[in-house]
Amino acid sequence: MTKLEEIIALCKRRGFVYPTSDIYGGIGGFYDLGPQGVALARNIKDAWWKEMVTSRDDVVGLDSSIILNPKTWEASGHVAAFTDPLIECKVCHSRLRADQEDEIAAHVASHKAKGEKDVTFTEPRQFNLLFKTFVGPVEDSKSVAYLRGETCQGIFTNFNNIMTSNRVKIPFGIAQIGKAFRNEVTPGKFLFRVREFEQMELEYFVEPKDADSAFAMWKGKRMAWHLSLGISKENIRFRQHEATERAHYASDSWDIEYNFPEWGFKEVEGIANRTDYDLKTHSKWSGKELKVVNQETNESYYPYVIEPSVGVTRLMLALLFEAFTKDGDRTVLKLKPSLAPFMVAVFPLLPNKPDLVTKAREVYQMLKSVFPTTWDDRGNIGKRYLAQDEIGTPWCVTIDFTTLEDGAVTIRNRDTTKQERIQISALIDYIRTNIQL
Ligand code: GAP
Repeated sequence: MTKLEEIIALCKRRGFVYPTSDIYGGIGGFYDLGPQGVALARNIKDAWWKEMVTSRDDVVGLDSSIILNPKTWEASGHVAAFTDPLIECKVCHSRLRADQEDEIAAHVASHKAKGEKDVTFTEPRQFNLLFKTFVGPVEDSKSVAYLRGETCQGIFTNFNNIMTSNRVKIPFGIAQIGKAFRNEVTPGKFLFRVREFEQMELEYFVEPKDADSAFAMWKGKRMAWHLSLGISKENIRFRQHEATERAHYASDSWDIEYNFPEWGFKEVEGIANRTDYDLKTHSKWSGKELKVVNQETNESYYPYVIEPSVGVTRLMLALLFEAFTKDGDRTVLKLKPSLAPFMVAVFPLLPNKPDLVTKAREVYQMLKSVFPTTWDDRGNIGKRYLAQDEIGTPWCVTIDFTTLEDGAVTIRNRDTTKQERIQISALIDYIRTNIQL
């Protein structure tokens, strides 16, 4: 099994990720997060929100609609140009992205392995990724709307609302976490390229003269954040976009790429200098002036936008690759403790001994009021450790017969498997002290 196959199996076995509507065979490019997946995603989003919003004085949050006035997408250029080049295999009629050389090579190789030598493709044509829907009871061209292809457009359309209803002034940012939808030609690589996903986006508005320094500041901060989540230095890098691959709105774009074992370095986050494209274009299309005035010079201008944008589940996949470890017979998710679905698991040594269960429940309630805590009384202790290792729970606490006499429990460390006896009264401090490890 490849590492990817092992991760996919673990994600299903341990309740992280399921193919959506699994009982009907799923649907390509859509996944559901199970109890552990939703907890991991929540921890990633909380870490991002803390970093980008609550720890700063110059960023405010937003939660805009998924469906916006369709003019938004005409103005932004998505209706005309949010496309990928599509080619069709003349042998099997599969559709592929013309710009994904590794996927085309794999496709050709799969035909050649079957002895089919003449594998050719149609000329590329542009395929629009916006999902269309209709608003209201009549399905005609006037009621067409789009599921948002990126979350940031709701930020731009709220720029004036936020300027007038909050004490913000340039430079400042608006952050949003929310669903985005793209009708990808070739969803695949598990969570890497899906059709429905969450984005964490910051639009940071600056005076044009400050755009380069703000860009450099965010590049540094974003890389430091990924490293702080436990991604190792050798598996993450910057890559600057060639002029030909930059989005139509960007004057400079850098990707933060993770070294996925199966596919090499691929984008997990994009950082773009979107110039004044967005506010200028929305001003023009909406007829509402989105300029701001420099209070010192009295000159009005369209702010430039620096945008760091990262997908929640794509980053989750990178973190799963990073954390997935084989240690002898053990499979361990060595997630940073603050990202793990549970910080601690509590076990009564034997589930059929009421005294042990009562004491273990007490410890469980005590820990649960402070940390995400889970309970397990199924199977033997070895099996419970195995399950918690695969979920990534950093500590397991076992209540045994001696606990009833001396008030001490066994605490086991996920990464070292080392066990220590400590007093129940010292447990919370012990875990708090070790969270950073
Ligand atoms: N507003 C800018 C923007 O949307 P992007 O590079 O297209 O830029 C930003 O997307 C991030 O969103 C990517 O770095 C990636 O993490 C995530 N993302 C984009 N498309 C995705 C997809 N089909 N599946 C999963 N994540 C995706």
